[in-house]
Amino acid sequence: MEAGGKVVVLTGAGISAESGVPTFRDADGLWEGHRVEDVATPEAYAHQPHVVHRFYDARRAALTTVEPNPAHHALARLEEVLGDDLLVVTQNVDDLHERAGSLRVHHMHGHLRSAWCQSCGARTVWHDDLAHGPACPSCGEPALRPDIVWFGEIPHGMDLIEEALAEATLFVSIGTSSMVYPAAGFVRAARLLGARTLELNLDRSAASSVFDETRHGPASLLVPAWVEELLAASRA
Ligand code: APR
Repeated sequence: MEAGGKVVVLTGAGISAESGVPTFRDADGLWEGHRVEDVATPEAYAHQPHVVHRFYDARRAALTTVEPNPAHHALARLEEVLGDDLLVVTQNVDDLHERAGSLRVHHMHGHLRSAWCQSCGARTVWHDDLAHGPACPSCGEPALRPDIVWFGEIPHGMDLIEEALAEATLFVSIGTSSMVYPAAGFVRAARLLGARTLELNLDRSAASSVFDETRHGPASLLVPAWVEELLAASRA
């Protein structure tokens, strides 16, 4: 594995699985127990806000029962060395990258610890439930929704991501099934723009054949091993 250049890491639910955060599409995943249309669309929120709030309130509360695992810690260690040459783009709405110490993390699908006011547009760091209709700290209206990018909505910061992919010499995808666009298309964009591409995933994903290299196994083992490899190459 060559050293130097800019690295973009895309993470998905698989990186948090060993921390105890359920994935979406694996057996016992979140989408086995819930219909996407009932909890993760603007239409669901318009018609049944309480159902949607209860789903995200439970997931937010569950964050207090989980801890970052060695894969999150390894990415934080990599950032200590690479600094601005590393960007983690995550599809995850948990806070495990930050709790492991990562600073340069972009949450393209939003964040459970943020509430978005549908009256004034303010975003507020949020740790409690939303189902009871608390007032927005900025405008006082009881109009806070989970700050989550639902199906049919546009992910955050696509410009920023495209710029990072254009500059990347290495693109690494960790723990994502590559079923959901636009994130699933980043590997093709990165390759076209000249980056080497590496996939670290428990098993084959929908995009495995597109990567220059794919490694299979649990993120808690694969990610620290890859980070050590990259750091050793940069020291050589
Ligand atoms: N280590 C590495 N990979 C793992 C592990 C593990 N311990 N456990 C599971 N995986 C892999 C699975 O094999 C699967 O390919 O993680 C992937 C998880 O896939 P999904 O459940 O589809 O999650 P993700 O790709 O993050 O979903 C993308 O879909 O529902 C939306 O907005 C939601 O951000 C989410 C998006």
